[in-house]
Amino acid sequence: MSKIGLFFGPLKGSVHRVAEKVKAALGKQNVDMISVNDASISDLEKYDLIIFGISTVGKETWDSNYSNTDWSKFFPNISKVDFSGKTVAIFGLGDHITYSSYFVNAIGVLAKDLLKNGANLVGKVDTSGYDFDESEAVIDGKFIGLPIDEDFEPELTDERVSNWVNSIKPAFGI
Ligand SMILES: Cc1cc2nc3c(=O)[nH]c(=O)nc-3n(C[C@H](O)[C@H](O)[C@H](O)COP(=O)(O)O)c2cc1C
Repeated sequence: MSKIGLFFGPLKGSVHRVAEKVKAALGKQNVDMISVNDASISDLEKYDLIIFGISTVGKETWDSNYSNTDWSKFFPNISKVDFSGKTVAIFGLGDHITYSSYFVNAIGVLAKDLLKNGANLVGKVDTSGYDFDESEAVIDGKFIGLPIDEDFEPELTDERVSNWVNSIKPAFGI
């Protein structure tokens, strides 16, 4: 099988930790981990199977001076790549208590750019297991990727990752 490119950022936080769990669940030998900090357009073009890991902290999605520098730099690359023929899934870190009206918004922002550029997005998740007010990540009644809350629901992460990875495995040829 061809390898999955797991593009994630930032380094050394919750996204990174969950990315390692996603990789382990898919089988380490099936996945290349690529920090978005070091990634270029040609890295994206190399993979037909892609997973993105992102957190919602950036100024694109939340009115704050804090900017997630790794993704801020990388984000414009998404709209420069033709994703047709590529299978893509997204997981996103967020906080459903403090940011209940903006819960994992970055998943939705990223997904919309990917869909515009032809990606076959897989790995939708039912909203029923989550408590939140609003989220740009909900498209047609479902989360368009996997939300994870390491701030307030870390005890649910392993099961959420495991269920989600099992649901996307066939689309990734595993
Ligand atoms: C300044 C700031 C803004 C945030 N904004 C949001 C938000 O709008 N929506 C959300 O779901 N989580 C938000 N969060 C929570 C983060 O997404 C969460 O803590 C995440 O686990 C961070 O992962 P990272 O350390 O890998 O970047 C915010 C956190 C910070 C520090």
